[in-house]
Amino acid sequence: MSRQAPLVFIMAAGLGTRMKSELPKVLHKIAGRPMLHWVVTAARVAGAQRVVAILGHKHEVVKASLDADFGAGSVDIALQPEQRGTGHAVQCALPAVANEPDDRIVVILTGDAPLLASERIAELTAACAASPAGMALLSTVPPRPMPYGRLVRDASGKLDKIVEHADATEAQRKIQDTNAGFYAITLGHLRKDLATLRADNAKGELYLTDLVARAAARGGATSIDAPFTEVAGINDRVDLAAVELEARRRINEAWMRAGVTMVDPASTYIDAEVGPLGKDVWLAPNVALRGKTSIGDGVRIDLGSVITDVQIAENAYVKPYSALTETTIGPRAMIGPFTHCRPGSRVDEDVHLGNFVETKKTHMMAGAKANHLAYLGDASVGAKANIGAGTITCNYDSVGKYRTTIEAGAFIGSDSQLVAPVTVGRDAYVGAGTTVTKDVPRGSLAITRVKQVNVEGWADRFRENLAKRKHKPDGEH
Ligand code: UD1
Ligand code: CA
Repeated sequence: MSRQAPLVFIMAAGLGTRMKSELPKVLHKIAGRPMLHWVVTAARVAGAQRVVAILGHKHEVVKASLDADFGAGSVDIALQPEQRGTGHAVQCALPAVANEPDDRIVVILTGDAPLLASERIAELTAACAASPAGMALLSTVPPRPMPYGRLVRDASGKLDKIVEHADATEAQRKIQDTNAGFYAITLGHLRKDLATLRADNAKGELYLTDLVARAAARGGATSIDAPFTEVAGINDRVDLAAVELEARRRINEAWMRAGVTMVDPASTYIDAEVGPLGKDVWLAPNVALRGKTSIGDGVRIDLGSVITDVQIAENAYVKPYSALTETTIGPRAMIGPFTHCRPGSRVDEDVHLGNFVETKKTHMMAGAKANHLAYLGDASVGAKANIGAGTITCNYDSVGKYRTTIEAGAFIGSDSQLVAPVTVGRDAYVGAGTTVTKDVPRGSLAITRVKQVNVEGWADRFRENLAKRKHKPDGEH
């Protein structure tokens, strides 16, 4: 195994008090993905040999989230029962790598800085391997004053130490170069130096940053400058929104470069897990693509549609204001405006679903149409069947859910109710306004309408009577 495949520690035990949240800070989402998961993903893409997450606050919840996304046990967990500082956090992770040799490189990341590129992890690893001091770190120049650790150098530029903001003098606070909070260090130095940390500082914590002064004695740690947007950490919800904005900007830029048109990238919301998106996909403003959504070539998604965990095949058109969830959409299907496909909907090629049509656990087969006002739940609708306006599947009797089967070519007249379980046979007709309670044999007509009666002259007589009453003097009724 290559020596360059690092061990990665992710510090994520902190309380995140400033988020003012029930949810652990590192599980707050950036573009739909928990921030900690961004960091784990970057570590994996960088080829980490192992990833150890250091957890404390609500660690069961955080572990469950990691297991759900990455597979049970695939991220190792080290517990830091009390948060006594970043140095202490890393001490808590050492037992997890007890069997690893001293020359192995450990990359230490923080769980609340999700936008670090995987290339940085490789850069840090390489810089550490090349450094006689066996240590490298990322530095950054923040765009506005931040309470970050300051990098203190000697006259030759060698890194002497990091002074935490809380411990810094006025003069030190003027230093522009700050500690971004990402490190690579050989395990041997880490083991030896962590044991020497003391909590003799403003916060009374064990500072991981004190390892830089230890490395100075070996010739000085290497620093690599990184843009602030990439290393920015999240402490409160203002930071969260700023990082979200940057994440979305990057995601959108990558998809545009891959052949997706966005009328207004600033109002196009694409989650991290979304993809692939095909060539010539066209996205109108205020479209949100969420979860594990994928979209084929030439698909158009019009204004205001929210699409979550949906697979859309090539050349389908989703018209404005449609909400689609856990659904598959076939080639050339036309959906919307104002269509609601709920989980378990399967829409095959050339299907049309129009305004105010709701589907749930329903399979619309090729060429079937429901163009206006319908509820189709727990149903299967055969190829080229036509569902009239106002059709409702009565799938629920307050206890159970039942299926409606509409076979190929059937025609359901407007304002019909299909009381499930029920089947409408192939090519059958259901007359408008029918309440279907019994199976309809193939090729027949079902109709339950009360026969129409025409009372001749009734309306004329009615109006005459009304007119007479109006002309009577007051008081006489
Ligand atoms: C840290 C650095 C500072 C750097 C800044 C960049 C130290 C002492 N200081 O400061 O030089 O400029 O990051 O953002 O490291 N954590 C634990 N256990 C703990 C304490 C912290 O797991 O006991 C985790 C936190 O959850 C967080 C990370 O470590 O993910 C950083 O901790 P935080 O308290 O935010 O450190 P800063 O004060 O921001
Ligand atoms: Ca922080």
